Amino acid sequence: MVSSPHGGVLIDRLCRGQKRKEWLKEAESLPSWRISDRLLSDVECIATGVYSPLQGFLGEEDYLSVRDRMRLADGTVWSLPVTLPVEENEARRVREGDQVALRGPDGRVYAVLEVTSLYQVDRQREAEAVFGTQDLKHPGVARLFEDSPIYAGGTVWMMRVPDHGPFTGDWIEPSQTRKIFEQRGWKRVVGFQTRNPVHRAHEYIQKSALETVDGLFFNPLVGETKKDDIPAEIRLESYRTILHHYYPRERVLFGVYPAAMRYAGPREAVFHALVRKNYGCTHFIVGRDHAGVGDYYGTYDAHRIFSRFKDEELGITPLFFEHSFYCRSCGGMASRKTCPHPPEDHVTLSGTRVREMLKKGETPPPEFSRPEVIRVLIRGLKDQQTCQ
Ligand code: ADX
Repeated sequence: MVSSPHGGVLIDRLCRGQKRKEWLKEAESLPSWRISDRLLSDVECIATGVYSPLQGFLGEEDYLSVRDRMRLADGTVWSLPVTLPVEENEARRVREGDQVALRGPDGRVYAVLEVTSLYQVDRQREAEAVFGTQDLKHPGVARLFEDSPIYAGGTVWMMRVPDHGPFTGDWIEPSQTRKIFEQRGWKRVVGFQTRNPVHRAHEYIQKSALETVDGLFFNPLVGETKKDDIPAEIRLESYRTILHHYYPRERVLFGVYPAAMRYAGPREAVFHALVRKNYGCTHFIVGRDHAGVGDYYGTYDAHRIFSRFKDEELGITPLFFEHSFYCRSCGGMASRKTCPHPPEDHVTLSGTRVREMLKKGETPPPEFSRPEVIRVLIRGLKDQQTCQ
């Protein structure tokens, strides 16, 4: 048995068949709000059950409860606000109880929101609670302050799914991953989140985890990330390459995770774990500074936060990994837990340094990253520079 969805039921708010056509037609006459790709990815995550038990954007009561105690109002663990900011003039056009069509950046209607709550928030408090800082240099805080402080909560029905472009074949919804895990007879499945190309430390922690479970769900985030992260389209090719050369096909399922990165460190680690529970995972990898950015969070804050919840409230087991590296004296990957040698023997490179090297066409050492992956990344970034 794969893991039960968070809250017990996998949410399905995708409108299908004849109903879909009728609703799309009706939605044309509703007041409408235009939402960004980032919010559209949240709508899709709600509709396909990735964010179960959410059936829509948080209303005020749930929002305050999530912000202040990392739980929905009914007590279910939920660590990040999933909210819909609306400009004041747009909000003024509707009342609680109204339906609003949600249009994507292309102007087409994708979903309908039944507004149950319109409320103003204190962004300073949200920033402090969710990101642990009000510093506008933090990308999550900057985004929060760019958005309106008026939020609309309510349930959504999605009638049109966005075009997934290069990710189409790797876009697997929780209902499908759950079936695949069952078909493969996987009872214990570990989920892996990343927003980066896979380097040797990622591979090491994935494979160490895989030694103890039946399967690995390799689930990179492909929603919005900060500008200096490597774009998901370029990463995609690197994932295919590393999987082809270094992973046993029958033990790994690859599928993309459509949501945007929040950079909320510890709180996002819990959120990422709950999302993977919805995909059917029983375990989730949390390494060093999970979902971190700059030095806003301590290296292991994202481990410690899990102790605030009971195992049965989470329903997915986090697997914690220490900072891992290649040790020249050990002749392999290790961590402080397994390696007795001094730091001079360890090959470690910061993400920033690696990105600089790749942009210049330089190759990080094979102890840091697989050469096949590096070749793909250098080529991808070069093509991107040529196109700009
Ligand atoms: S994240 O923002 O998606 O968490 P990243 O892609 O860097 O960032 O990391 C993916 C996962 O690998 C996270 O769980 C992170 O903690 C872990 N990780 C990254 N680098 C290391 C490392 N050197 N040692 C141990 N864990 C790591």
